[in-house]
Amino acid sequence: MNICVVGLQWGDEGKGKVVDILAEHSDIVVRYSGGSNAGHTVVVDPDLIGTSRDSGSTVPDKIGGKFALHLLPSGVVRPNVSCIITNAVVVDPEVLLNEIEAIAKRGIELKGRLFISENAHVVLDYHKMEDQLREESLGKNKIGTTIRGIGPCYADKAGRSHAVRIGDLRNLQQLKEKLQTTVNYKNKVFTAVYPQEALRLNSKPISANDIFEKCKFYADKFLPFIIDTTEFLHNSIKDGKSILFEGAQGTLLDLDHGTFPYVTSSNSSSLGMPAGCGVPAKYVDKFIGVVKAYTTRVGAGPFPTEQDNEIGQYIRDKGHEYGTTTGRPRRCGWFDAVAVSYSIKIGGIDEIALMHLDTLAGIKEVKICTQYAIRNTHNEVTKWFPSNIEILSNVEPVYETLPGWDEDITEVRDFRKLPSNAQNYISWIEKLTGIPVTIIGVGPKRSQTIFRKKRA
Ligand code: GDP
Ligand code: IMO
Ligand code: MG
Repeated sequence: MNICVVGLQWGDEGKGKVVDILAEHSDIVVRYSGGSNAGHTVVVDPDLIGTSRDSGSTVPDKIGGKFALHLLPSGVVRPNVSCIITNAVVVDPEVLLNEIEAIAKRGIELKGRLFISENAHVVLDYHKMEDQLREESLGKNKIGTTIRGIGPCYADKAGRSHAVRIGDLRNLQQLKEKLQTTVNYKNKVFTAVYPQEALRLNSKPISANDIFEKCKFYADKFLPFIIDTTEFLHNSIKDGKSILFEGAQGTLLDLDHGTFPYVTSSNSSSLGMPAGCGVPAKYVDKFIGVVKAYTTRVGAGPFPTEQDNEIGQYIRDKGHEYGTTTGRPRRCGWFDAVAVSYSIKIGGIDEIALMHLDTLAGIKEVKICTQYAIRNTHNEVTKWFPSNIEILSNVEPVYETLPGWDEDITEVRDFRKLPSNAQNYISWIEKLTGIPVTIIGVGPKRSQTIFRKKRA
């Protein structure tokens, strides 16, 4: 069974946890888009170490606790799973190396089971500098990026002439020449376009030689992992392996289908999966969309159900809503069924994994946005998520108000044992979105999950 897991909101829905859970029944986990802007958290309960399918293998005792992953696929904690980073991921070698080393210290071996596409593009220092300079130059119009160099790296990919790919690490002489031309160009542009910003940020011209020396070092470390991942995946399909495709970011951050320009620079909906790894969507048996039981967003951009008030603060505190990558406080608000229904349509989603249900406990009345009233027109309402950002920024959410629940549900493992108001809340989400909620998160740990369907 091949499954694609994708976020249906603005990222941080809990994809890492869902992928880690489903990886128990997978042979391969594939990261197919984004870069180190992603932060995917996996929390393994110490008492679960060595259970289930892992029990026959030599799982080291140290594999427990929390893992904050940026580039490594979230299947990495499962020792039998191969982890693939494919062509459309933009790889910051420094971040990846740190992750590989940190995980090795916890006893997780990656040799022979981590593979990186030779066609993946490389994020270099000048991409991160450009991201920062550009954000600084935008003042109040900032996108609020993660400053991880994502946009500039994807721009170089589309522009082609300055792009550096992982496979280029194999030919250092040629790479040296390319870096000289590229760095020369970047320095000229930065000096001409961002002189004030460079001064404010105290950023210095980049040295092509320094970047080349780093690349030489990375080449040494990464060469054993570099392959043609498309060929690997098609051979795996032929061999009947179970593949889990792991989305990064969320559908509403998709470059083409999200809330442009407040999006990331890749196709982060499930539509990015085929191009992102060279496997057609027809090989995916199930698309699972991950949502939170409410909504969060990091960075700028419209957010119709945002609660910039004590409700938002309650959710932020209770759900520990601070970014995994940047530590920024996440903006919090009610569940938006208009936005999620749109993401379901765009992504061909079959089932919902609803995370953080536990976080809503203690709120007297919970709200779900069922449609938008469009301001400036005569009583017009819509159930379709508007593609026009001006319209979206001005909609008024129309809510269904439901009774909340007080009980702590973090130890519940059976849907029927949830408070009836929590069950009712889920039924509403199913009714409004038209698809079943099959996985429910009641806490960050792997074990804090309710399954409404048997998975094999
Ligand atoms: P991702 O980017 O979609 O993988 O999500 P993140 O890892 O950035 O953010 C999700 C956060 O919520 C992480 O800190 C998870 O450990 C945590 N989490 C995931 N599922 C649940 C849940 O059901 N309940 C609670 N309380 N925390 C959860
Ligand atoms: P995961 O995979 C939440 C947001 C940034 C910013 C916008 C553009 O953990 O869900 P970028 O650095 O990509 O140019 O920033 O996208 N963003 C995310 N928000 N979760 C993420 O990843 C994100 N990756 C990017 O906050 O608003
Ligand atoms: Mg995240």
